[in-house]
Amino acid sequence: MNSLRLGILGSGQGGNCRQILERIRAGTLAAEVRLIASDVFDARILEVAREFAVPNAFLQPGKFRTKLEPGSEAALARMLQDAEVEIVALAGFMRVLKKPMLNAFPRRIINIHPSLLPKFPGREAWRQALEAGEHVTGCTVHYVDAGIDSGDIIAQRTVPVLANDTAKTLHARIQIAERDLYPEVLQSLAISRV
Ligand code: GAR
Repeated sequence: MNSLRLGILGSGQGGNCRQILERIRAGTLAAEVRLIASDVFDARILEVAREFAVPNAFLQPGKFRTKLEPGSEAALARMLQDAEVEIVALAGFMRVLKKPMLNAFPRRIINIHPSLLPKFPGREAWRQALEAGEHVTGCTVHYVDAGIDSGDIIAQRTVPVLANDTAKTLHARIQIAERDLYPEVLQSLAISRV
C-alpha cells in the first residue's frame, strides 16, 4: 500500500504528532509525514519533528491571535502542496483555518478535538465538560470546515469523567484516548483511499 502523505499542524506539546510518528515507525500506520508546521516558535511539536527528522516550518503568527494572515496561510498551503500532502492533520493547532487552506485541501483537513462534538466546541473542552457536570466525555476526529469544531464527524471515543477529576486529570485521560483514536482514523483513511 502507498503510504498516506501527511502534513501535521500544531501549536503545543506534539503528543498526538509523536504518537502518529511512532505508529508509522512501528509499521502500524501506513503513512509518512512530509511536513510539520507550527505557529509557535518554541513549540515542542517542532522538537518532535526534528527528533524524527521530519521537515518542519515555523509559521509567522502575524497580527491576528486566532487565525493566520491570509498571505501566510496561502504560503502554508503551497508548502503542503509542494510536499504533495494528501491529508492535513491538525494536532493541537490553535488557529482557525480560512479559505486559503480550506480551498487548497477540500475535505482533506482533519482535526482532533477533546470532547464528544457537537458538545463543547472551542477552547479547553475538557474543562467545559467538567463544569457542565458530564459523566462521560471523550474525543472526536472530524473534518475541518469554516466553522469552529463543526465539520463532519469521522470517529469518536468516550472517556469517563471520574468523581475526583480535575481539569488536568480529565484532560490527561482524554489525551490517552486521543493517542489511539487519531492514528486509527488515519490508518482507515490510508486504507480506504487505495
Ligand atoms: C489535544 O488534547 C487536542 O485535542 C487539543 O489540544 C491538545 C494538543 O495536545 N486540541 C484542541 O483543543 C483543538 N480545539 P498535543 O499537542 O500533545 O497533541
